[in-house]
Amino acid sequence: MCGIVGFVGHKNAANKIINGLKRLEYRGYDSAGIALVEKGSGKLCVIKTAGKIADLEHEVQSGYSGSSETGIGHTRWATHGKPTKDNAHPHATEFIALVHNGIIENYADLRKRLASYGISLYSDTDTEVVAQMISFLFSKGASPLEAVQQTISLIQGAYAFGVVFNKHPEMVICARQGSPLAVGTDVDGRLSLGSDAVALSGFASQIIYLESGDIAQLYSNGNLNIFDKENNEVKRQWQPIDKDQAAPDKKGYEHFMLKEIFEQPSTIKNTLTHYIGRAVNKTDNVLETNIHPSGLNWNQINHITIVACGTSYYAGLVAKYWFEKYARIPVEVDVASEYRYRTPPIYEKSIGIFISQSGETADTLAALRYMRSLGHMCAAIVNVPTSTLAREADAVLPTFAGTEVSVASTKAFTAQMTVLAYMLIEALKTRNCIDLSADFAKEILDINELISRALDTMQKLAPLAKKLSKAKDIIYFGRGALYPIAMEGALKMKELSYIHAEGYAAGEMKHGPIALIDKGMPIIVLCPYDKDGLFHKVVSNICEAETRGAQISVLTCNKGRALFKEMGLKYSTYLYPETTQFTAPMLYSIPVQFLAYLTALNRGVDIDQPRNLAKSVTVE
Ligand code: M6R
Repeated sequence: MCGIVGFVGHKNAANKIINGLKRLEYRGYDSAGIALVEKGSGKLCVIKTAGKIADLEHEVQSGYSGSSETGIGHTRWATHGKPTKDNAHPHATEFIALVHNGIIENYADLRKRLASYGISLYSDTDTEVVAQMISFLFSKGASPLEAVQQTISLIQGAYAFGVVFNKHPEMVICARQGSPLAVGTDVDGRLSLGSDAVALSGFASQIIYLESGDIAQLYSNGNLNIFDKENNEVKRQWQPIDKDQAAPDKKGYEHFMLKEIFEQPSTIKNTLTHYIGRAVNKTDNVLETNIHPSGLNWNQINHITIVACGTSYYAGLVAKYWFEKYARIPVEVDVASEYRYRTPPIYEKSIGIFISQSGETADTLAALRYMRSLGHMCAAIVNVPTSTLAREADAVLPTFAGTEVSVASTKAFTAQMTVLAYMLIEALKTRNCIDLSADFAKEILDINELISRALDTMQKLAPLAKKLSKAKDIIYFGRGALYPIAMEGALKMKELSYIHAEGYAAGEMKHGPIALIDKGMPIIVLCPYDKDGLFHKVVSNICEAETRGAQISVLTCNKGRALFKEMGLKYSTYLYPETTQFTAPMLYSIPVQFLAYLTALNRGVDIDQPRNLAKSVTVE
């Protein structure tokens, strides 16, 4: 989603801004721009493109010969107004230039107000009203800080913005409300600003995450003034930049997504190591597991509400199956964009679990704030420990997946399920289901091995992916805790290959969706054998679809394939290690990720940055 960088007092600011924007490319964007303030003349130079950063870089190299030390840059993910050059940021007037991330909800009212001052707008964006208002107030004699403060008092919505003034090449002002924004400093005390630590990791050694409501003035001499939402000057804590957030590297893989799929055995292991220990008792050789305490009191928790978006939501749905079946704790799972608008009932002894890779997803954050405002304990499962969600939650359970660059989430998803599995194991132990807890702990500690074995055979999916790449629609079947994985498989397929795909609970098919099936429609079925599971029920559902002409491909295990043979059913089968109902969702996530990857590869699309998508969705 929109990304912001800015520098003040840095030699060759234009280069630095372009490099900062390159680091933000992973967030997803459709246009970009840069504004520089000339030191002597105070001239504002704005260069924008409706294309990629490489195009912007080319335009800057060919069209800019100044030597500015101060400037701001932006990658735009269009919300209001098409991704055109006019709508790209920075939005500039004679006096100022501004970049913004967020949505100004009352932009229509502000447009009218500006019209009454005789100011007309050139773009279709919500952002331009902020630029025009600051510029208007500044032109009428307000200081830069006053112009920003007065404008902020007029705007409603979420924002992180940076603004430069033609008459103040020594300064950048920035502010945030809702959307994330950070200030960085290098070892020489030179200041910068960015949407996240990744944007600043090449330039800054320390960082301050601004609080919601903060306004900061950054000066070229290294002075930094921060004002809180009451306009009181405040000090905020510098933190070292996490090396993990340094510029990402594909490490020889063709795509970040491929690298991240293959990292899963080690990212799951990293996550597990933090939550569950394993030891061999030397006397009798018994494997012992040690469940590290999370600080949550499972004896006091009788209900769980899980809130998340997209792939993280599906991790929550898997947890619902786990917690309800094994710990007998009722679980509600909500997509974050719906949660607070449906005025949900609040339960006694209930905990909210908010799941997010980025920790910056606007809907998930808004839902967390809503639930906390009702006095509820809220825990966050996040991959970015410095994120807003992590900072605002009452308890944080980090995933240790490392920076996930590909827009399509893979390793963060399995790490989220790992943490949820650990929470289940801890809950079972606390609630006196000691044996089940110990069994699950042992099982989960071996999942990375099973995933490694599954990864060794992934290329076998290549012929299927080739066929799928020509399909118009694809259906995924799963039941039980594999139903969320069927939906996740369909989501991955949609976002990467742009092929329409849906995941269904296989038994639901005959209640409507079966009408879609005609000759050759591909159906991917997640159907490992498990002794007390739904294997035979899924087989019946497959038969119903096959009779109507569907082309069935089954992801299963040896035992499953043997049973298909016994029943005389000849489907294309893809084999994975034996699992239980508990571990199956984690293992079967891998082939559905890989299938989507290979299908997209066949279609020659941009795998790491699919069209229209953003890595961190910071607007509602
Ligand atoms: O950062 P989050 O986990 O909060 O993001 C939630 C979704 O936007 C995200 O999972 C999205 O669905 C991915 N692109 C899926 O691959």
